[in-house]
Amino acid sequence: MHSPATSHPPTDDVSTTQHYFTRQPEVSSKPGIATLALPDGIFRFTTDTGVFSHAAIDAGTRFLLQHAPAVPLSGDVLDLGCGYGPVAVVWGARKPEATVWAVDTNQRALELTAANAAAAGCANVTTSQPDDVPSQIRFAAIYANPPIRIGKGALRSMLITWLDRLLPGGAAYLVVHRHLGADSLTRWLTSSGYSTQRERSSKGYRLLCVQAAAEPSVNVDQPRHHVEDEKGLR
Ligand SMILES: C[S@@+](CC[C@H](N)C(=O)[O-])C[C@H]1O[C@@H](n2cnc3c(N)ncnc32)[C@H](O)[C@@H]1O
Repeated sequence: MHSPATSHPPTDDVSTTQHYFTRQPEVSSKPGIATLALPDGIFRFTTDTGVFSHAAIDAGTRFLLQHAPAVPLSGDVLDLGCGYGPVAVVWGARKPEATVWAVDTNQRALELTAANAAAAGCANVTTSQPDDVPSQIRFAAIYANPPIRIGKGALRSMLITWLDRLLPGGAAYLVVHRHLGADSLTRWLTSSGYSTQRERSSKGYRLLCVQAAAEPSVNVDQPRHHVEDEKGLR
C-alpha cells in the first residue's frame, strides 16, 4: 500500500514560488525552519525566501524521500536542484559512506544546503554550481525534485546532461506531479533512450525511476540522445 503524499497541489507552482530558480535572489532574507519527519529520522532545515518551498518541505520532496530506494551507495550521488538541501542532507545522513553532490544554480540555495548539511553533521555533502562539479565524476544514483518551471527545453537538456553521467546500472529517481507533465516526461525519456518506469504514484505525484542509458555517452557535452520535441507531448 502506498503512503499518500501529504498535500496537493504541488508547491512547484509559479504563483507561490516565483523565481525560486533565480541565481542570486534579490528578495530580502527572511530565514525560517522546515521540519521533515521520516521513518528514519527527524530533520530540521533552515530555509529562506527566494528558495523553493521555503515555508515547508514540499509534498513531492517528502514523497521522494519516503519511497525512493537506496541503491548500493558507496560512491557519488547527485541531488539535482538541491534547494535548501532536504534531499542531499537526508541521503547524506542515510549513506555516510557516499559522497553527495548538492547542485543548484541558486546561490542562496547552495549556502542554505551547506549550512543545513553542517548542522546535520553530514560532512559528506558537497555543494556546487552545476558547472563546477568535476567532469570526471560519475554517479551511482541521482535523486531530484526537478525544476519543471525552468521550461521544457531547459529541463530536458539539464536532465540529459546529468543522466549521461550515471554509472552503468545506475538510476535517477525523480518526483514529478502529473499536473506538471510527469507522464509526458516519462514517455519522452524512454523515447530518448533512458528507460523510465513509474515506481509509485500518490495524489498525482509520480516517482519515476530512470535507468542509465545502455551505452553511456563518453562526452557529456554532446549527449547521444536528444529528442528535441515530440509531437503531442507537453
Ligand atoms: C523543485 S526545486 C527542488 C528543491 C529541493 N530539492 C527540494 O526538494 O526542496 C528545483 C531546484 O532546481 C534548481 N535549478 C534550476 N535550474 C537548475 C539547473 N539548471 N541545474 C541545477 N539546479 C537547477 C532550482 O533553483 C531549485 O532549487
